[in-house]
Formats: sequence, C-alpha cells, structure tokens
Amino acid sequence: MSSEASLAIGGKSLEMSIKDGSIGPSVLDISKLYAQTGMFTYDPGFTSTASCESKITYIDGDEGILLYRGYPIEQLAEHGDFLETCYLLLYGELPTPSQREDFNYNVTHHTMVHEQMMRFFQGFRRDAHPMSVMVASVGALSAFYHDSTDISDPTQRMIASMRMIAKIPTLAAMAYKYSVGQPFVYPQNNLDYSANFLRMCFAVPCEDYQVNPVLARALDRIFILHADHEQNASTSTVRLAGSSGANPFACIAAGVACLWGPAHGGANEAALKMLQEIGTPDRIPHYIARAKDKNDPFRLMGFGHRVYKNYDPRAKIMQKTTHEVLKELGVKDDPLLDVAMELERIALHDSYFIEKKLYPNIDFYSGITLKAMGFPTSMFTVLFALARTVGWIAQWKEMIEDPSQRIGRPRQLYTGEAKRDYIPVAKR
Ligand code: SDX
Repeated sequence: MSSEASLAIGGKSLEMSIKDGSIGPSVLDISKLYAQTGMFTYDPGFTSTASCESKITYIDGDEGILLYRGYPIEQLAEHGDFLETCYLLLYGELPTPSQREDFNYNVTHHTMVHEQMMRFFQGFRRDAHPMSVMVASVGALSAFYHDSTDISDPTQRMIASMRMIAKIPTLAAMAYKYSVGQPFVYPQNNLDYSANFLRMCFAVPCEDYQVNPVLARALDRIFILHADHEQNASTSTVRLAGSSGANPFACIAAGVACLWGPAHGGANEAALKMLQEIGTPDRIPHYIARAKDKNDPFRLMGFGHRVYKNYDPRAKIMQKTTHEVLKELGVKDDPLLDVAMELERIALHDSYFIEKKLYPNIDFYSGITLKAMGFPTSMFTVLFALARTVGWIAQWKEMIEDPSQRIGRPRQLYTGEAKRDYIPVAKR
C-alpha cells in the first residue's frame, strides 16, 4: 500500500510516494529526488535511511521487539536451536522434520576446510588478534572454492551459503587453537553444531573431551541471539560489497572486518575489559561520571544502541543465560557479574541514561558468559562473527535475488575546494 507526499523545493512541488511495510515505519521513496531537484538527501550514519527492502528481521527499538521472519527472538531462543534458526533466516520458514534433517546433514558434511588452509594459518604470529585471522581466512575461502563463486547461479549461491555456515566454526576454532599453540581439532560429524565447536576449541589429543550439554545449549542460544539484526553496520557492509558482484566469501570477510569495531561487535570484548577495569562496585560512580562527561571519550561499553531505545530483548535472554552458565560451572559469585549487575542498576536509575534511553545491549553480558566458558576476551567478537555469518549470508542472498538490486553508490555533500589551477613548486 502506498500514498503520496509532496515536497516544496525552489518554488516547485515534488510528489513522492510513501511505501508502507507489513509492520513498522513507512518509507518515503526519494529515488527520483536528484533527477528532479539536483539535490541529495543528507543523513550521516543513516539514522533516517532505509537502504533496502527486507523480509528477514524486524526490530521495534521503542518496544524492544526482535523478530526473525516474524518469530519473536524469545521463542526461538527458548524452543529452537541455531541450525533451525539458520534455515529460518535463509528460507523464511521453520523447517519440516525432513527439511531440518537434510539441512543439518548438509551443514555437518561441509564443516571441514581444505587441508592447505592450515599452512595459511602458519603465516600469522601466534599473538595475532583472532579477528585479524578471521578476516584473512574467511576471505581466503574464495581462493579454495572457485566452484561456488558464480553468484548468478542459484545452486552455487546455495553451496557457498552452506559452506560459509558450516566452515565458520571450524575457522573460528582454528583461530583460537593457533593463538594458544595447540593442535587444530577436526570437526566430528556425530556432534551438533555448537557441541562440535566447543570440542574443536577445547579438546586436546592427550585425553578424551566430553562436551558439557548445558554449555553447548547455552552457546547454541547465544548463537541464536547473534544470528541477524536488520541492516546493522556489518550487514550493510556485506550488502554493499555484494552489490558489486563480489563473491560471497569476500563479502562475509568484509562483514567480519566491520563487526570488529568496538562500537559494533567489538563491544563485547570492550565491555568485559571495562568491567575488569572497574573491578569493584565502589568504583562504578567514577566510571558513570566519565561516561556522562562530554569531554571524556569514555563510553559504557555494552550500553546504548542506534535502534533500541528500550531494553535490548537479547540482553535479557543473555543475562538469564549468564546465570545458567555460572551456576552450571559452580561459579558462586563472579565479581565481574556483581559489577555488571550493579552498573546496570545504577545506570538505569540515572537521569543521563534515562533521558538518552541508554540500556544494556547484547554485548553487556555476553563477555561474562563466554569468559566463564573458557574463551579468552580476544575470541568474543569471533564468536559474534561466527553466529552473524548466517545473517550476513541470508541478507546477501536476499539482495542478490532482489530483481531491483543495483550496485550501491551513495553520493556526498562536497565542502572541499572549488576548481583551481596547478601551482608549480617554484611558485609555492
Ligand atoms: C551492536 O546496529 C546494530 O543492530 C548493532 C548490533 C547488532 O546486533 O548488529 O546490535 C550489535 O553493535 C550493539 C552495540 C554495541 N556497542 C556498544 O555497546 C558501544 C557503546 N555504545 C555506543 O557507542 C553507542 O550507543 C552506539 C554506537 C551503540 C550507538 O550510537 P549512536 O546511535 O550513534 O548514538 P550516539 O553515539 O549518537 O549517542 C547518543 C547519545 C550521545 O550523547 P549526546 O551527543 O546526544 O549528548 O548517547 C550517548 C552519546 O554520547 N551515548 C552514550 C553511550 N552510547 C551513547 N553515553 C555513554 N555510554 C554509552 N554507551
């Protein structure tokens, strides 16, 4: 359904159509604005810009709602599993039992990476940040899989999607093993997705490794929470890279690179370091004051969100998972959790955070959980990238299959020098 809007510019009236979505804000179609007025819109950070039409994920930031293909995140986290969520994000419906079995078999039997990838890892210093290894190794997949980089072929797109979802945990575990100087552990096809990942990270050749089912379930839920999130910075990066026709592995590598930033996926690593720096609840007021000080660049990592102006629904589930994992591991009182809970309590009653609608986001509690599971801080964003790969792939696939898609090419407001003549160096 659409209606019209008119814009008076330079004595002319410009008619623009308003397009309504199935739910959520309508959009003003400005695609003819430049042709008709010679002007661009101006929206740094894209706070008021819809870059595309999508059917995958819906967020209502004021109500704290997150839907994957219409299903509330709370229900998927409670009743579903990560591979079922992958199927849902990719194909739009929850799988039937046979579809689920076929999909899980397909993913499971693509988890190995080319053996020569191991030599590729040898080129890194052992203390390289695992995210730098992920950017490189995900991009390198396009060097091994030429048979699934023709994006115009739906079969190759499907194979590339399966390979990406299947191999990202293997590469993530290899990045971790390489960083701690332990041998790589091959995937085991008799384990489910998250249990397989835990084993590839924490098993060693010298003894048997039994996956803790409570931790595997918790990690699987954490992956569900991180799977997709509308047109966030890294997803928009993947879409823009994909709009040029770049192969899917290169596009996902671009997404990994963008996610690494501390304002985005890197916030889980930064949030844990912040909690460690605060150390004890009595030091919280000092950090709250710093976060409110305009002259201090310090921000409460894990707080605030471009879209959520209410509690991030994922953070609530994350907090519950944190308590479950700490209980399973017999961690009675984690000082970091004490600091996090007290920091949240103080911030949510502070007028600065209330006025600016700053609430904990998904990154606020995830670090405490992942640290308790045995992951080093440097692996937190790697796990975010692992889970978000399916969202990136689903959004990339939707864009490629959209008949109206074109290469993304934004314009600018130029405020530099007007035309001027060259000055020979002798006259400068
Ligand atoms: C993720 O987009 C997504 O969906 C991302 C994500 C996903 O799943 O893909 O949800 C994952 O990236 C979650 C966000 C993780 N980042 C952090 O936790 C880093 C800390 N938070 C911020 O840097 C910030 O809140 C952002 C980046 C998340 C949002 O930034 P915006 O929307 O550009 O908001 P802003 O920077 O303009 O802040 C608005 C105001 C500012 O004050 P004023 O200039 O209006 O006076 O709020 C203040 C900011 O100074 N503010 C904070 C704050 N976040 C915003 N003040 C203190 N601590 C904070 N964390």
